[in-house]
Amino acid sequence: MGPQGGQQQPKVPIPGVQNIIAVGSGKGGVGKTTVAVNLAISLAKLGHAVGLLDADVYGPNVPLMLGVHETPHALGQNIRPIQAHGIRVMSMGFLNPGDKPLVWRGPMLNSVIQQFLRNVDWGSLDYLVIDLPPGTGDVQLTLIQTTPITGAVIVTTPSDVSLEDARKAVHMFEQVREPVLGIVENMSYLEHNGEKVYVFGKGGGAKTAELMKVPLLAEIPLDLQTRAGGDSGKPIALGNTPQSALFRQLAHTVIEKAEASKTRLRPTMTVAD
Ligand SMILES: Nc1ncnc2c1ncn2[C@@H]1O[C@H](COP(=O)(O)OP(=O)(O)OP(=O)(O)O)[C@@H](O)[C@H]1O
Ligand SMILES: [Mg+2]
Repeated sequence: MGPQGGQQQPKVPIPGVQNIIAVGSGKGGVGKTTVAVNLAISLAKLGHAVGLLDADVYGPNVPLMLGVHETPHALGQNIRPIQAHGIRVMSMGFLNPGDKPLVWRGPMLNSVIQQFLRNVDWGSLDYLVIDLPPGTGDVQLTLIQTTPITGAVIVTTPSDVSLEDARKAVHMFEQVREPVLGIVENMSYLEHNGEKVYVFGKGGGAKTAELMKVPLLAEIPLDLQTRAGGDSGKPIALGNTPQSALFRQLAHTVIEKAEASKTRLRPTMTVAD
């Protein structure tokens, strides 16, 4: 990061990585990791080379959700990502397994995020999906001030508190001129006896997306198998169910929005040259 004297440091792309998709939220526990993991697997199932970076260094949940408990190997100065379910993965949880908490100060946090981005041997990737911690804190700032991202996906539930915080998350990316691809409304409803029950209220994600002038990318229902898949290390997107079809559709939509976002940026870069 480089707030020295208020100077903006130039953002440095990650060589070989075509698209960086940051999955964030205002509030915790809304399903960011679930969406990031299932989005990454769905993108890989569509034939893309995909990496998943667990940037939640405070509470890394990606190893549990993928059912991976390996230690990554070093490769010269670099770390080799773990291969799991067809994607390349890196998480603090691989380096600090168990339930010992890690306490990070700003500069250390910055350096671990930089190492995860630049000293992991990601190779050629079509998509690097980044699972962010909740909120608008240091990890998010470090990422967006140092690295150009293709776009952010903001996850929210339909509840008012979650939507209010989702607006803050959208604003944060807009303030640093990083595109927001759109909002995913998670836990939108529960299917019960063939009917949709709107547990946390109805249509809040769509209204918020309209208000913020960003697309609504998906409405993902509350689903027992999705929760169980996360807890057992077998993400729902690996299977072939109505819920996995929704994540596949989300992957298609993210690809489309990512492409659109890149073409929108091109004229600006030409002018800046
Ligand atoms: N659509 C869903 N249906 C059922 N359970 C879900 C769904 N989405 C997420 N969950 C469950 O809700 C819990 C929280 O989800 P998750 O860990 O993905 O949220 P998070 O936003 O990453 O949380 P944190 O802010 O702590 O990182 C998990 O147990 C997960 O399995
Ligand atoms: Mg999480």
